[in-house]
Amino acid sequence: MNQPTPGKLRQSPAWKALQAHQAEIAQVHMRELFARSPERAQEFSLEAGALLLDYSKHRVIGTTLALLIDLARQAGVEAWRARMFAGEHINASEDRAVLHVALRSALEAFPAGNDVMPLVRKARQGMRAFSDAVRGGRLLGHSGKPMRTVINIGIGGSDLGPRMLVQALWRHADAAQAVHFVANADPDDLARVLSQAQPESTLFIVASKTFTTGETLANARLARAWLIDGLHSEAAVSKHFAAATANVKAAAEFGIAPELCFSLWDWVGGRYSVWSTVGLPVAIAIGMDRFEELLAGARAMDEHFLRAPLEANMPVLLALLGIWYANFFGAESHAVLPYAEALRELPAYLQQLEMESNGKSVDRDGQPVDYATVPVVWGAVGTNSQHAFHQMLHQGTHLVPCDFLVPVATTGAAAENALAQAAALMAGKDASLAQRRFDGNRPSSTILFKTIDPNTMGQLLALYEHKVFVQGIIWNINSFDQWGVELGKEIARTLAQSAAAAAEAGMDASTNALMRRLRAWRG
Ligand code: F6P
Repeated sequence: MNQPTPGKLRQSPAWKALQAHQAEIAQVHMRELFARSPERAQEFSLEAGALLLDYSKHRVIGTTLALLIDLARQAGVEAWRARMFAGEHINASEDRAVLHVALRSALEAFPAGNDVMPLVRKARQGMRAFSDAVRGGRLLGHSGKPMRTVINIGIGGSDLGPRMLVQALWRHADAAQAVHFVANADPDDLARVLSQAQPESTLFIVASKTFTTGETLANARLARAWLIDGLHSEAAVSKHFAAATANVKAAAEFGIAPELCFSLWDWVGGRYSVWSTVGLPVAIAIGMDRFEELLAGARAMDEHFLRAPLEANMPVLLALLGIWYANFFGAESHAVLPYAEALRELPAYLQQLEMESNGKSVDRDGQPVDYATVPVVWGAVGTNSQHAFHQMLHQGTHLVPCDFLVPVATTGAAAENALAQAAALMAGKDASLAQRRFDGNRPSSTILFKTIDPNTMGQLLALYEHKVFVQGIIWNINSFDQWGVELGKEIARTLAQSAAAAAEAGMDASTNALMRRLRAWRG
């Protein structure tokens, strides 16, 4: 691959051209751009499947986009995309392929030479049989009662995706089937959920690719104790626990019956795993037919990403616009604003997707990068967010590009509010009193879609996955490892042992003092 080495990206022709161009564009107000071109809204919008992306409220002109596309070409985005879809080990630091796209593929065999589709099909069949049995009341617990409460125990990618989708797709779910999520190391999380559950009708799904994650195992053990205590039987565990994992051995040791252990593989990253058996809670909530619609939606976006020219490729455009602000305007954060109560959990999901993937400061060769990578991704559901932090978006000192995600069918006045916010951020408003003045010229994308249904959600999530991929390629980083989460885990394990172990591990004076206080206060 002809990748720029450190220092080289910023010295590269495409980067330098963008820098020079930025100096011109920085002087221009978007109001002027709209005044200049009556066609601007059409020119800078794109439809793909169910999604309409309006990117006209960005500080770009045709030249900007052409230069950004040059940057993508210079980075070899097309070649890297082909390598991912060919199943090459592009996750080099873990020596793994990146094949979440296989999880939604409809191909008979994929990828060529390393066909994983038989595994994928088998897992889908298992999910169908299992979710049908749960929904149909045919999966019986230890005392012969159907499982009416499902509790997913997992964290990070084994929690955020299914949690977000169960919330998003509640209109498509079976109301008789309660599906809860527990993630936190704080046992309060589990306790709250268990306080509403009956052991004889509760099914736990332990979702953990590695089956070694501290929080998940601790919660799973607490849940197992609660179950055994409630049903007075250890044998109940094999009926009330299922798992989604790549570590079948550890799941079996925990007591999970082989027929309730659903496979996962090392070529699926945690934050890309909602399409796999990690999606079981979603399949139970909405049924496997609808889950397949979710996969079909993602597949449609995969096709678009693979086939559309870069200039008309939605994930590529979103990626490039993000790079434009992060690297050429110094924007340090990016707001995600879904205008739908059902999408309340989406910002948290996208936080992991974007920041765990691209929160890196060394390149693929381990050399420090000398440019910004992923900005802080944050956000909240609109219209609530308007009454919390939009003041800063409109009049604060930071430039915060925003994504407005606007489903229109069931969201009432929320949709109009989203459009109003985007318009106000762009145009601003003059006033004689400085405090009442809005400078405007604040960029946003608007993604409009009709409804929040499984297919559309599949498209939307795959859109962001591919956006993250393209940015990672341009920044020349590995988007698919996450070594940065390891050190804290390691230290937490030491601290959990004893104060002596912490002291022995040579912890700093501050942590040691806090540990002493923590233990004293706990008595
Ligand atoms: O802590 C980071 C992480 O490894 C995530 O990438 C992952 O989604 C999460 O932990 C959970 O991991 P597992 O599914 O192995 O329990």
